[in-house]
Amino acid sequence: MRTVTVGVLGSGTVGQDVLNLIQRRQSVFTDLGVRIEIAGVLVRDVTRVRSIPPGTRVTDTCDFLQECNVVVECMGGIDRPLEILRPYLRSGRPVITANKALLAERWDELRPYAQDGRLYYEASVMAGTPVIGPMSTVLRASTFTRLQAILNGTCNFVLGQMEAGKDYAQALAEAQALGYAEDPPTLDVGGFDTAHKLAVLARFSADGDFPYSAVQIQGIEGVTPEDIEDARGHGERIKLVAELEKDGHGWKATVAPRRLPNDHPLCTAGASRNALVYEGEECGTLIFAGGGAGGMVTASAMVGDLLDYLLGFPGHVPLH
Ligand code: NDP
Ligand code: HSE
Repeated sequence: MRTVTVGVLGSGTVGQDVLNLIQRRQSVFTDLGVRIEIAGVLVRDVTRVRSIPPGTRVTDTCDFLQECNVVVECMGGIDRPLEILRPYLRSGRPVITANKALLAERWDELRPYAQDGRLYYEASVMAGTPVIGPMSTVLRASTFTRLQAILNGTCNFVLGQMEAGKDYAQALAEAQALGYAEDPPTLDVGGFDTAHKLAVLARFSADGDFPYSAVQIQGIEGVTPEDIEDARGHGERIKLVAELEKDGHGWKATVAPRRLPNDHPLCTAGASRNALVYEGEECGTLIFAGGGAGGMVTASAMVGDLLDYLLGFPGHVPLH
């Protein structure tokens, strides 16, 4: 049995469930001949009560990183996680992350590590619903033409609750209580989180250098109950839709609220689920749908990435 030392950055909605899932699925690691040792868990407030396996070392310093074989980043933010991870990445060790903001906005620095197969980030888009895996592997054989997606659980939940008659503020507070929303939730409702995810996806399908700044962004703050009623009267629903399609010799990436017919695959996926319609010349039209926010569904993808790493699979390599 070999011991693999894991460091975890953050123990909030996602981090706690990563720790719980690693413990719950111990037999899968044992089958691989691996014993997972958690070297430390970085948090801000060490006094906070956490629902994690007893005896886990929780700390507000990063000294444990030196002894880690792999780091799982679920703290969020951009500059602070990068500051912590920079020396660690430079030492050639792998990182598993759910942080789409970091990936989208600091790609110039992170791309070489991703190209070397040392960044694993399935959870960063659609959480536990695998889309980055297929897009970074088998789907590359097809000529990509277009994608349309619902990539934000918070907005989907808020719009669904508004359809049921709740007001916007109350619905957003519920999404926050469920652990779906970013900190701050403006990232969700302003469309920025969806744009981060669209930029990450574009790097597998359109252009390995696709810049976040190229995404045109409009959020759902301006959607009114009257808009929702009007759409309903026409057999339609309002969704925050991410779109990527050819535009001359380049690509057009947009995030905006759209009216879609009730029977559109992005509408039939389910109330708080994410969905993605992927179109390629050879593979045809594919539909992915499932949980896109929440602790355990996100942890399932991160622990899946950890298993891939242990099995010797590379991380998610963008287009060259
Ligand atoms: P939370 O706010 O619930 O947890 C963040 C954790 O990181 C907390 O434990 C916090 O410590 C710690 N942390 C934050 N900043 C620092 C810092 N500067 N120094 C030390 N510790 C810090 O966030 P989530 O778990 O919801 O999200 C984490 C990441 O996962 C984000 O990148 C998010 O975008 C991504 N993600 C989230 C999903 C979700 O559904 N929630 C789904 C997919 C991805 P403390 O507990 O002491 O405050
Ligand atoms: N805040 C994000 C959402 C979390 O609501 O989809 C998952 O990335």
